[in-house]
Amino acid sequence: AWGWGCDDRRRGVLAAVSELSLAILISGRGSNMQALVEACAEPGFPARVATVISNRSDAAGLATAASHGIATAVVDHKGFADRETFELALDTAIDESGAELVCLAGFMRLLGADFVDRRDNRLINIHPSLLPAYKGLDTHERVLADGARFAGCTVHFVRPAMDAGPIIVQAAVPVLADDTAESLAARVLAQEHRIYPLAVRWIAEDRVSLYDNRVSVAGAAAAVETLINPISS
Ligand code: GRF
Repeated sequence: AWGWGCDDRRRGVLAAVSELSLAILISGRGSNMQALVEACAEPGFPARVATVISNRSDAAGLATAASHGIATAVVDHKGFADRETFELALDTAIDESGAELVCLAGFMRLLGADFVDRRDNRLINIHPSLLPAYKGLDTHERVLADGARFAGCTVHFVRPAMDAGPIIVQAAVPVLADDTAESLAARVLAQEHRIYPLAVRWIAEDRVSLYDNRVSVAGAAAAVETLINPISS
């Protein structure tokens, strides 16, 4: 079994009083980053944002982070000869910030096995589908094209394969008859902004453990509700 409580660096008296420090990696808008920043600003939230790093200097989220007084950095993949050197520069930026947990939030570069393995279970991602369904891009378009009745979002530990890894938390939303990709995306995004801070809180509180690829969260109860969509009139 693996759990944050098994980590020597956070064991002991200090772990009870120190906040988990985060590096948030973005490529664009940064609304999930903003949700994490706002959660961390709430009194008693057990994490803080050490840095926001973007691979694109034009990412709108950089200005949002700066307006919250968060340190930002740009590590532009185009400035490096290959993925390995880009990822080593990312490592340096993360390490210099002192961040313990890396949160991918709309970070549009695939990360190699070396980078992922170096972070072990200190790297999480949010994806706008109910994984393992709809990995990759254009999730909402594909959900609508398939006529699926539910969509959703997932926070998971990152593994080298794209959008793969042990699932920490998911939120499901109904697909409505008149949905467009935009309306569905907005419904899912509202839930992304709820579950990403939730997952970070649980990790920061040392409540998350992994057994055979399955995550358990101490003290969290299973949802009791079963959803059926559509509902008969
Ligand atoms: C979100 O839908 C997230 O799930 C996906 O990329 C999008 C990023 O949006 N990984 P934002 O930059 O957080 O607003």
